[in-house]
Amino acid sequence: MNDGTIATVRLGDTGPEVGVQGLGCMGMSFAYGPSDAHESRATLERALELGVTLYDTADAYGAGDNERFLSPFFTAHRDEVVIATKFALSIPPEDPTRRVIRNDPSYIRQAVEASLKRLGVDVIDLYYMHRRDVNVPIEETVGVMSELVREGKVTYLGLSEVTADELRAAHSVHPVTAVQSEWSLFSRDIEARVVPAARELGVALVPYSPLGRGFLTGSFVNAEQDLTADDFRRGQPRFTGANASANAALLEPVRTVAEAHGASLGQIALAWVQQQAAVHDLTVVPIPGTRRPGRVEENTAATGITLTQDELALLQPVATKVAGDRYADMTFTSAGRE
Ligand SMILES: NC(=O)c1ccc[n+]([C@@H]2O[C@H](COP(=O)([O-])OP(=O)(O)OC[C@H]3O[C@@H](n4cnc5c(N)ncnc54)[C@H](OP(=O)(O)O)[C@@H]3O)[C@@H](O)[C@H]2O)c1
Repeated sequence: MNDGTIATVRLGDTGPEVGVQGLGCMGMSFAYGPSDAHESRATLERALELGVTLYDTADAYGAGDNERFLSPFFTAHRDEVVIATKFALSIPPEDPTRRVIRNDPSYIRQAVEASLKRLGVDVIDLYYMHRRDVNVPIEETVGVMSELVREGKVTYLGLSEVTADELRAAHSVHPVTAVQSEWSLFSRDIEARVVPAARELGVALVPYSPLGRGFLTGSFVNAEQDLTADDFRRGQPRFTGANASANAALLEPVRTVAEAHGASLGQIALAWVQQQAAVHDLTVVPIPGTRRPGRVEENTAATGITLTQDELALLQPVATKVAGDRYADMTFTSAGRE
């Protein structure tokens, strides 16, 4: 765009018009070490100036802290932002390594009221089921979510980390606007079944961790050596031990492409995931996470980069060589159930 703002796109067949890149807000309160509230607020404002309208949070991020932190920004810009939050997941304070997943109706009703209160808004624009509780039929979960739409508490529905079959079952109950899953040069398993199902149903894909949790920018290699003691990535198999150095070597083709474009590694990673919209013929709105205004400028500028067929071919094998799983506990993801 001539004025430096990013293009817009409709979020799937049923969703709102949004900036073609969103902003992941999780790191402002959770998971990635200490953050500076002043700088995070400046990041939110800069993103909005650049045309970013989809802001991603969850009730689980800092046990509600992230939603509370975002509330003043959201309420100040209520008509300009699309607020996406999630339910289903909680982290017991007595054991932060554990995850409790609930999709049952009473839990969802309690979760939505708590999120609305923390966010300080009357309606959540896009409400995601964060993780699937296999003990509750997905039709029942989406049935309750659709009641929230009828009651005006929620406008659009989303699902995170679901299988293609779960997406189809959910969509038969109520239109699903977006599926959020990890999708990047390092994580491409959703391309086999979830992406084709989303295309067929007119559901948008919202890739999370499109920068491979920062690894694809080259800003760290070994999480145990390079990141602070409280950083979640220190427990992830891809970023530790021999895997970390093997995976760092995989950035070479990304570097080659970056040099050809006079771009950063992160910009090529974002351009690649954005370009999957054309490759797979569906809407793709990545949500890179950052807490720094300069990085929002860098990341949004990637929407202007188009990779050639030769460059896409050079990057094609990268994901097949990645060492280590996406999570330490893969039963916590859709891949574990496919
Ligand atoms: N649905 C789910 O289960 C799920 C799971 C994970 C994440 N998410 C969502 O997806 C969002 C994005 O994912 P993510 O934050 O995990 O990973 P990501 O976007 O792949 O990477 C974020 C990391 O990259 C760094 N970074 C961002 N831009 C950079 C740049 N231009 N140069 C160098 N480093 C840069 C950030 O550091 P700084 O912040 O210091 O800039 C942060 O450490 C989250 O914020 C969250 O909203 C959803």
